[in-house]
Amino acid sequence: MHDLIIIGGGPGGYLAAERAGHAGLDVVLFEKNKLGGVCLNEGCIPSKTLLNSAKVFEHAAHGEVFGVTSENAQIDQKKVIARKNKVVRILVAGVKAAMKKHNVTVIADRAVITGKVAGGYKVEAEGKTYETKAIIIATGSDALVPPIPGAREGLEAGYVLTNREILDLDVIPETMTIVGGGVIGLEMASYFQTVGTKVTVVEMLDHIAGATDREISNLLLKNYEKKGITFHLGCKVTGIEKGRVLYEQDGEQKSVEAEYTLLSIGRRANTNLIGLESIGVYTERGAIVTDEQGLTNVPNVYAVGDVNGRCMLAHAAYREAEVAVSTILGKKDMMRYNAVPSVIYTNPEVASVGFSEEELIEKGMAYKKQVTPMSYSGRYQAETDKGDGICKLLVDPETNRLLGVHLLGSYASEIILAAGTFIETEMTVDDIREVVFAHPTVSEVLREAVFQLE
Ligand code: NAI
Repeated sequence: MHDLIIIGGGPGGYLAAERAGHAGLDVVLFEKNKLGGVCLNEGCIPSKTLLNSAKVFEHAAHGEVFGVTSENAQIDQKKVIARKNKVVRILVAGVKAAMKKHNVTVIADRAVITGKVAGGYKVEAEGKTYETKAIIIATGSDALVPPIPGAREGLEAGYVLTNREILDLDVIPETMTIVGGGVIGLEMASYFQTVGTKVTVVEMLDHIAGATDREISNLLLKNYEKKGITFHLGCKVTGIEKGRVLYEQDGEQKSVEAEYTLLSIGRRANTNLIGLESIGVYTERGAIVTDEQGLTNVPNVYAVGDVNGRCMLAHAAYREAEVAVSTILGKKDMMRYNAVPSVIYTNPEVASVGFSEEELIEKGMAYKKQVTPMSYSGRYQAETDKGDGICKLLVDPETNRLLGVHLLGSYASEIILAAGTFIETEMTVDDIREVVFAHPTVSEVLREAVFQLE
């Protein structure tokens, strides 16, 4: 009998395997597709590779203000995709090597839980039965395909895309309509607008970027409208045809041209066809229910990453994986979701940790607020032209600790680590004031903001 079977080789699964293997457990990891999961193969890493190409292109094409001109800057989408594929190959090989190093047995097949045995569980794959004392389910999520007329047909024909197909699109379309102005929609809008596509985003809500602090998402919207992206907010998509997307606005039927249409309306946990019913694992609204250790209602069966629907972010999956493995090893550990940062890699970047102002208002929690322009940072001034980035702090007036930090501007994705650390370690504003920040860095805006706080 094995110590641990892990189903799914994405960030949650492979990191759990690595940690458990390192601790000396006998681990078997099942992956039906590619090691690295959505994050490495068709999510976080490929999209960041594309977005970096867009950044380089933007510098080349619009560097005049910094004294740089280059004639006729071009972007070659085939080369962009080829480089993305190379980056993915290197990282997937890295995961494979890590599995080997930590003595994890990797089996390239779909695994199905088939029931209980004395002291553990049965899992089937490759026509064989494996027995294990514990299971970590890390089967991830899939893009939601809405029941919009024409969506499925479009996917089959190739002019409707999800996060998977769009990262392999080796042409730059004239027009693209993005259904859903959340994280994926905005990152892809950022990429395709920069490389020359006319982008339209159709979003059901009256704002973009989901639960992001509204002051930040409104500023991002303003930045993007200025760049030329069209947003139709409060609009319901009613149909997708070859060449156009139909939507309803205030009861009126409208349409927008779309050579390609991206569906980015959220993701659904992969709980089907893994045999959850054979051992009675509870799910709620399609996701596996877990506690702060990642444990399901079934003893020694854990669920980490997107499949538990708690926080669909790769870095949350990493930490959930570690917490589950610690618990299996009998060590005390738990998730603290309030200190998990989130980032939207648009240009400018958005990064947040903790509560948004809207959440604090909704919960009736008291707070002090400080909004400091990024332009207080010398480095930001040096590198940004007419930037309107901000650093927003929300502070508990009683404890003087940070409740939330929200950034829009360059390097936000890197700076947010500091803010998350301040929240995780429960530092007070006075503690933070004693921290020395390297100068000149954009992160100094955090220091400026804590000093400006009344
Ligand atoms: P999302 O939940 O971020 O956004 C979906 C948006 O679609 C919402 O604003 C919603 O109101 C809208 N919507 C839903 N149905 C619609 C309809 N019929 N018509 C128009 N709008 C509609 O989901 P998204 O962007 O697909 O991302 C999926 C997951 O992947 C998220 O959980 C996200 O956190 C994760 N992700 C994280 C990234 C990061 O950390 N940088 C990057 C990409 C994805």
